[in-house]
Amino acid sequence: MRICIINGPNLNLLGKREPEIYGNQTFEQYLKLLQDKFADCELEYFQSNIEGEIINKLQEVGFSADGIVLNAAAYTHTSVGIGDAVRGIETPVIEVHISNTFSREVFRHQSFISGGASGVILGFGLKSYDLAIQSFFV
Ligand code: DQA
Repeated sequence: MRICIINGPNLNLLGKREPEIYGNQTFEQYLKLLQDKFADCELEYFQSNIEGEIINKLQEVGFSADGIVLNAAAYTHTSVGIGDAVRGIETPVIEVHISNTFSREVFRHQSFISGGASGVILGFGLKSYDLAIQSFFV
Protein backbone atom coordinates (compact mmCIF):
# COMPACT_ATOMS: atom_id res chain seq x y z
CA MET A 1 0.00 0.00 0.00
CA ARG A 2 1.46 3.36 -1.04
CA ILE A 3 -0.01 6.43 0.64
CA CYS A 4 1.05 10.03 0.14
CA ILE A 5 0.44 12.65 2.81
CA ILE A 6 0.26 16.17 1.39
CA ASN A 7 0.31 19.17 3.71
CA GLY A 8 -0.40 22.73 2.65
CA PRO A 9 0.67 26.17 3.82
CA ASN A 10 1.99 26.86 7.30
CA LEU A 11 1.85 23.20 8.33
CA ASN A 12 5.66 23.26 8.25
CA LEU A 13 5.28 25.40 11.39
CA LEU A 14 3.47 22.71 13.41
CA GLY A 15 4.93 22.62 16.91
CA LYS A 16 5.50 26.39 16.87
CA ARG A 17 2.31 27.66 15.27
CA GLU A 18 -0.70 28.44 17.52
CA PRO A 19 -0.02 25.43 19.78
CA GLU A 20 -3.33 25.90 21.58
CA ILE A 21 -5.01 24.91 18.28
CA TYR A 22 -2.43 22.70 16.55
CA GLY A 23 -0.46 21.20 19.46
CA ASN A 24 3.26 21.07 20.28
CA GLN A 25 4.45 18.33 17.99
CA THR A 26 6.22 18.89 14.68
CA PHE A 27 4.81 16.96 11.72
CA GLU A 28 8.17 15.25 11.25
CA GLN A 29 7.94 13.87 14.81
CA TYR A 30 4.41 12.65 14.21
CA LEU A 31 5.33 11.17 10.82
CA LYS A 32 7.89 8.89 12.52
CA LEU A 33 5.12 7.51 14.75
CA LEU A 34 2.92 6.95 11.70
CA GLN A 35 5.75 5.21 9.83
CA ASP A 36 6.29 2.88 12.83
CA LYS A 37 2.59 2.18 13.21
CA PHE A 38 2.01 1.56 9.49
CA ALA A 39 5.32 -0.19 8.88
CA ASP A 40 3.87 -2.31 6.06
CA CYS A 41 2.80 0.79 4.25
CA GLU A 42 4.94 3.06 2.08
CA LEU A 43 4.21 6.52 3.51
CA GLU A 44 5.42 9.42 1.42
CA TYR A 45 5.30 12.97 2.80
CA PHE A 46 5.17 16.28 0.92
CA GLN A 47 4.60 19.79 2.26
CA SER A 48 4.40 23.04 0.36
CA ASN A 49 3.31 26.60 1.01
CA ILE A 50 2.69 27.06 -2.72
CA GLU A 51 -0.67 26.23 -4.29
CA GLY A 52 0.71 25.15 -7.68
CA GLU A 53 3.22 22.78 -6.06
CA ILE A 54 0.38 21.06 -4.23
CA ILE A 55 -1.50 20.68 -7.52
CA ASN A 56 1.65 19.31 -9.20
CA LYS A 57 2.09 16.77 -6.39
CA LEU A 58 -1.55 15.64 -6.60
CA GLN A 59 -1.11 15.10 -10.35
CA GLU A 60 2.24 13.33 -9.85
CA VAL A 61 1.01 10.74 -7.33
CA GLY A 62 -2.69 10.76 -8.21
CA PHE A 63 -2.52 8.01 -10.85
CA SER A 64 -0.18 5.62 -9.04
CA ALA A 65 -0.52 5.89 -5.24
CA ASP A 66 -3.20 3.86 -3.46
CA GLY A 67 -4.32 6.76 -1.30
CA ILE A 68 -3.73 10.44 -0.62
CA VAL A 69 -4.20 12.16 2.74
CA LEU A 70 -4.57 15.88 2.02
CA ASN A 71 -4.55 18.75 4.47
CA ALA A 72 -4.65 21.71 2.11
CA ALA A 73 -4.74 24.00 5.18
CA ALA A 74 -5.86 27.55 4.26
CA TYR A 75 -6.12 26.61 0.55
CA THR A 76 -9.00 24.32 1.54
CA HIS A 77 -11.16 27.41 1.83
CA THR A 78 -9.93 29.26 -1.26
CA SER A 79 -8.53 26.97 -3.95
CA VAL A 80 -10.70 25.97 -6.89
CA GLY A 81 -7.47 24.66 -8.48
CA ILE A 82 -6.72 22.16 -5.72
CA GLY A 83 -10.39 21.13 -5.64
CA ASP A 84 -10.29 20.51 -9.42
CA ALA A 85 -7.05 18.51 -9.08
CA VAL A 86 -8.65 16.27 -6.42
CA ARG A 87 -11.55 15.63 -8.82
CA GLY A 88 -9.22 15.09 -11.78
CA ILE A 89 -7.04 12.32 -10.37
CA GLU A 90 -7.80 8.61 -9.85
CA THR A 91 -6.32 8.01 -6.39
CA PRO A 92 -8.86 8.45 -3.58
CA VAL A 93 -8.22 11.50 -1.43
CA ILE A 94 -9.11 11.82 2.24
CA GLU A 95 -9.32 15.45 3.35
CA VAL A 96 -8.01 15.97 6.87
CA HIS A 97 -7.82 18.85 9.31
CA ILE A 98 -6.17 18.97 12.69
CA SER A 99 -8.75 21.34 14.14
CA ASN A 100 -12.52 21.18 13.92
CA THR A 101 -12.91 23.83 11.25
CA PHE A 102 -16.66 24.00 11.91
CA SER A 103 -16.09 25.26 15.44
CA ARG A 104 -13.91 28.10 14.11
CA GLU A 105 -14.43 31.19 11.92
CA VAL A 106 -17.19 30.98 9.29
CA PHE A 107 -14.68 31.28 6.42
CA ARG A 108 -13.24 27.92 7.53
CA HIS A 109 -16.62 26.20 7.12
CA GLN A 110 -16.30 26.16 3.32
CA SER A 111 -14.13 23.56 1.60
CA PHE A 112 -13.32 23.36 -2.12
CA ILE A 113 -11.89 19.87 -1.45
CA SER A 114 -14.69 17.99 0.34
CA GLY A 115 -16.96 17.50 -2.70
CA GLY A 116 -14.24 15.60 -4.56
CA ALA A 117 -12.81 13.75 -1.58
CA SER A 118 -13.65 10.16 -0.67
CA GLY A 119 -14.00 11.23 2.95
CA VAL A 120 -13.27 13.99 5.43
CA ILE A 121 -11.73 13.63 8.90
CA LEU A 122 -11.30 16.65 11.12
CA GLY A 123 -10.96 17.79 14.68
CA PHE A 124 -8.93 14.90 16.12
CA GLY A 125 -5.62 16.75 16.27
CA LEU A 126 -2.76 14.99 14.48
CA LYS A 127 -4.68 11.75 15.02
CA SER A 128 -6.83 12.87 12.06
CA TYR A 129 -3.96 11.68 9.81
CA ASP A 130 -3.81 8.29 11.56
CA LEU A 131 -7.56 7.84 11.13
CA ALA A 132 -7.34 8.84 7.46
CA ILE A 133 -4.63 6.23 6.80
CA GLN A 134 -6.68 3.59 8.63
CA SER A 135 -9.63 4.36 6.34
CA PHE A 136 -7.66 2.96 3.39
CA PHE A 137 -7.57 -0.46 5.09
CA VAL A 138 -11.36 -0.81 5.60
C1 DQA B 1 -6.28 23.41 9.10
C2 DQA B 1 -7.50 24.32 9.24
C3 DQA B 1 -7.42 25.48 8.27
O1 DQA B 1 -8.55 26.31 8.42
C4 DQA B 1 -6.17 26.31 8.54
O2 DQA B 1 -6.05 27.33 7.59
C5 DQA B 1 -4.93 25.49 8.62
C6 DQA B 1 -4.98 24.18 9.26
C7 DQA B 1 -6.28 22.28 10.16
O3 DQA B 1 -5.57 21.31 9.95
O4 DQA B 1 -6.96 22.38 11.18
O5 DQA B 1 -3.86 25.94 8.26
O6 DQA B 1 -6.32 22.79 7.83
